Amino acid sequence: MTDGLRKGLTAYGDSGFSLFLRNAFIKAMGYSDDALDRPIVGITNTHSDYNPCHGNAPQIIDAVKRGVMLAGAMPMVFPTISIAESFAHPTSMYLRNLMAMDTEEMIRAQPMDAVVVIGGCDKTLPAQVMAAVSADLPTVVIPVGPMVVGHHKGEVLGACTDCRRLWAKYRAGEIDEAEIEAVNGRLAPSVGTCMVMGTASTMACMIEAMGLSLPMSATIPAPHAERFRSAEASGRVAAAMAKAKGPRPSEILTPAAFRNAQVVLQAIGGSTNGLIHLTAIAGRVPHRIDLDEFDAIGRKVPVLVDLKPSGAHYMEHFHHAGGVPKLMAQLGELIELDARTITGATLRELVAQAEEVPGQDVIRSRADPIRSEGGLAVLRGNLAPRGALIKHAAASPNLMQHTGRAVVFETLEDMARRIDDPDLDVAADDVLVLRNAGPKGAPGMPEAGYLPIPLKLARAGVKDMVRISDARMSGTAFGTIVLHITPESAEGGPLALVQTGDRIALDVAARRIDLKVDDAELTRRRAALPATAAARPERGYAQLFHDAVLQADDGCDFDFLTAAGRRA
Ligand code: FES
Ligand code: MG
Repeated sequence: MTDGLRKGLTAYGDSGFSLFLRNAFIKAMGYSDDALDRPIVGITNTHSDYNPCHGNAPQIIDAVKRGVMLAGAMPMVFPTISIAESFAHPTSMYLRNLMAMDTEEMIRAQPMDAVVVIGGCDKTLPAQVMAAVSADLPTVVIPVGPMVVGHHKGEVLGACTDCRRLWAKYRAGEIDEAEIEAVNGRLAPSVGTCMVMGTASTMACMIEAMGLSLPMSATIPAPHAERFRSAEASGRVAAAMAKAKGPRPSEILTPAAFRNAQVVLQAIGGSTNGLIHLTAIAGRVPHRIDLDEFDAIGRKVPVLVDLKPSGAHYMEHFHHAGGVPKLMAQLGELIELDARTITGATLRELVAQAEEVPGQDVIRSRADPIRSEGGLAVLRGNLAPRGALIKHAAASPNLMQHTGRAVVFETLEDMARRIDDPDLDVAADDVLVLRNAGPKGAPGMPEAGYLPIPLKLARAGVKDMVRISDARMSGTAFGTIVLHITPESAEGGPLALVQTGDRIALDVAARRIDLKVDDAELTRRRAALPATAAARPERGYAQLFHDAVLQADDGCDFDFLTAAGRRA
């Protein structure tokens, strides 16, 4: 009888019989005793016809299996939920914690000594790492990799920064129907994740910096042969970890690893969503991501990577310039180089091998940064007692300090109904406010924070306005946009008290977002608020989500999934 399937043999109260049954059933697939009597490496399969970002997952899985077997272990592939941004209603964020639960429980339930999680589209790597941390089995993360770039009329195109930019041009009447159709076929020219520094790329870079994936794995384009060689190597590493029974995520995810992830998030001009996901991952360890510390990191760490939406280039250019190892080399002592990685090497050893690419201008030096400060800033004020976030790297300099009249949209539906109304009372220096779009309010905190410029203003040439909400925003978007206002309005946050006509002051240098209404009036308005804005769903996952979802400063995890578990 073979031993590899022994883990977790408690059913039937007779472990000998349970193992006998397991072996009998798995042999139905044609496995030999020799195959089964080895350490087992589980591999998640998140391939789905609804997920083009993971279109290369079958090829990656083949390569991982090859690597696992060449190293003398046994690969076992199992399916989990797959989530793609454009196909997940009402928003992919609503499903992230469900994917984390599914992945964690399947890792726990099935016999395996190590696991390889393969993901990439925005919510999938966060969900998989949250799961891996909670299951705490030796884990290798493999991002599926970014798409290669598209081309249109001599211009380089990337999803989805250019999707938004060109759609805005179409809305403004600057390009016609035929051209927007042509663009539509060129924005996503291969499988893989969005090739700008959106959430998918941001998460892959942070995970590499935390030592959970192999060097360069964040940036190798999805269709490249190198992507599959890296997957094969990842399989070998997973087999070694299965034999050595470590390192486990809890040994890799030290305070130094979380600090390094925050430094890299600032230096790449990464997605605002990256902070929410990192906070959720940390909450599983547990480790607290402190917003003030994150802001302080941002004041010290320059943006060095010149990628859209805050810069000019795309992920494949970042890759060919040396990727995350080269970035960490440039960051020098801002990175804690003694941090360990799954390879057994420290970051110092990996960074020493970073490639020197003469003439590249994608990864800058600290002497010649894209920006002297990091990409993200944490705001506080009477509108955001528990914080709000702005990606000032991708905002308009002339709006960094701005006071304007609030134009309030009560919900997403209200905004959709009125934003393009020619009679909407709105001017370019107003502040657009969207509420009831937070974790509980919408629900799922959709990426609605990128409020469109009202049609009549867009047609008049207005490109940016101050926009504030309790929603999230796509990491690929550009604009002066204040997000994640916490607590959210549906939980009685001060955003619920704003009325059209109020004055709102944004001051990014001072890290402030304030409603210029006196306290007595705010107290009066609070007394008139309805008790609860978000109705409790009747049943099912929607009800679980409503009851358990935490605010943005806790990563929007479910309370019972954090390391602390549900607080009474
Ligand atoms: Fe999947 Fe952008 S839609 S990564
Ligand atoms: Mg996205």
